[in-house]
Amino acid sequence: MKIAILGNGGREHAIATKISKSPKLQKLYCIPGNAGTDLVAENVELDFYNYGNLLRFIKENKIDLVIIGPEKPLVDGVVDYLSKENIKVFGPNKKVSQLEGSKIFTKKICEKYNIPTAQFGVFKTDTEAYKYLERANMPIVVKADGLASGKGVYICENLESSKKAVEEIFNGKFGLAKQVLIEEFLQGDEMSYFVLSDGKIFKRFNTAQDHKRVGEGDIGKNTGGMGAYSPSGLINADLDKKIITKIINPTFEAIKDMGEKYKGFLYVGLMIKNNNPYLIEYNVRMGDPECQTILPLLASDLLDLILSCCNQTLEKQNIVWEEKKSMCVVLCSNGYPDIYKKNVEIPNIEYIKNNDSFFIYHAGTKKKDNKVYANGGRVLNFVSISNNLKSSREKVIKEIENLNWNNGFYRRDIGYKIIDK
Ligand code: AMP
Ligand code: GLY
Repeated sequence: MKIAILGNGGREHAIATKISKSPKLQKLYCIPGNAGTDLVAENVELDFYNYGNLLRFIKENKIDLVIIGPEKPLVDGVVDYLSKENIKVFGPNKKVSQLEGSKIFTKKICEKYNIPTAQFGVFKTDTEAYKYLERANMPIVVKADGLASGKGVYICENLESSKKAVEEIFNGKFGLAKQVLIEEFLQGDEMSYFVLSDGKIFKRFNTAQDHKRVGEGDIGKNTGGMGAYSPSGLINADLDKKIITKIINPTFEAIKDMGEKYKGFLYVGLMIKNNNPYLIEYNVRMGDPECQTILPLLASDLLDLILSCCNQTLEKQNIVWEEKKSMCVVLCSNGYPDIYKKNVEIPNIEYIKNNDSFFIYHAGTKKKDNKVYANGGRVLNFVSISNNLKSSREKVIKEIENLNWNNGFYRRDIGYKIIDK
């Protein structure tokens, strides 16, 4: 089969690496890909938001399946566009991608289907929002409704900062805002839970723990993710059952009631308190860096699983995992998540080799004249799998130090809550 993957992050390099091992694969393209995907696929410089050009490329190269990595094209409706043209595509359609594309859409489903989540209010004007905030307990969470690359969420400690958040959102910091979402602050531990769905049924995929804050000890600004490990230390049979019955089953019921089908990965972002799950958010794709830490543990053929989602035959598939633990640490450009330099060479990267238990997945990198350059905030994902998270972390840190890249930084404490306690 000829396959194309859309995206250029660590998630897409991890997906491409796994797909490249499938006996069914004949040719793999990444649109546009990065310096890492270049090792396992052919990168194609093409703006995939230009759907006409994308379709032309797919047809000219007789591509059998398109896999969508990031949320933006999903929310934008790329799946609907390609499906209409009879192209096989893996990912949810525009309507159900609202689960990520509109936080208010998801909250309304939670309300209607009794899904445990933070209490909330939706406000159409700043005056209404301020009135609510004046009576609310602090801290409180103020959110922009639409996609904001993880930046549209404000955790506010006092009235002044919460009002400022509302003001910024209504002033259009994240695009035109007709409404603002205000939520109760949930205490607890976060967990990322993934399922795979073919539109008829869903199956559990795996769990992971992400570290979103830039600083060690989970302090400082929110980022796209500084590292992750899998499986999550929080999961147990009782919690798993509650997640399925209280959160995921009613969500799929809501999708069915809308007359829709959900095909693809669903990322369930949870807060766990006293072994009870609360939904923080849905994402309509794999997580990044969760994907990089989860996929190396997958013993089944990823391409088979994806095809069975497209063909509605997931029922027949067994999703098999290695009984190991996986650790991913992200090497970032100095200055991230604020301002950082681009086009900085990463010398000697070619000397670090992947093997069966250690992987480097590229994120913000680009190849030029056979040299690798950093062109993003999150640059490289170092992943190790073993029986022990601590030794995986030691291996990863040793490799990052061997690379000795002088424009980068990373967190040495990924997994500290279960490794160092
Ligand atoms: P989101 O973009 O919705 O994932 O939010 C980003 C991060 O903000 C989450 O990963 C949580 O760490 C935090 N967060 C969002 N909503 C809440 C909430 N209601 N209570 C506590 N933390 C939250
Ligand atoms: N790791 C967070 C995300 O993918 O949204």
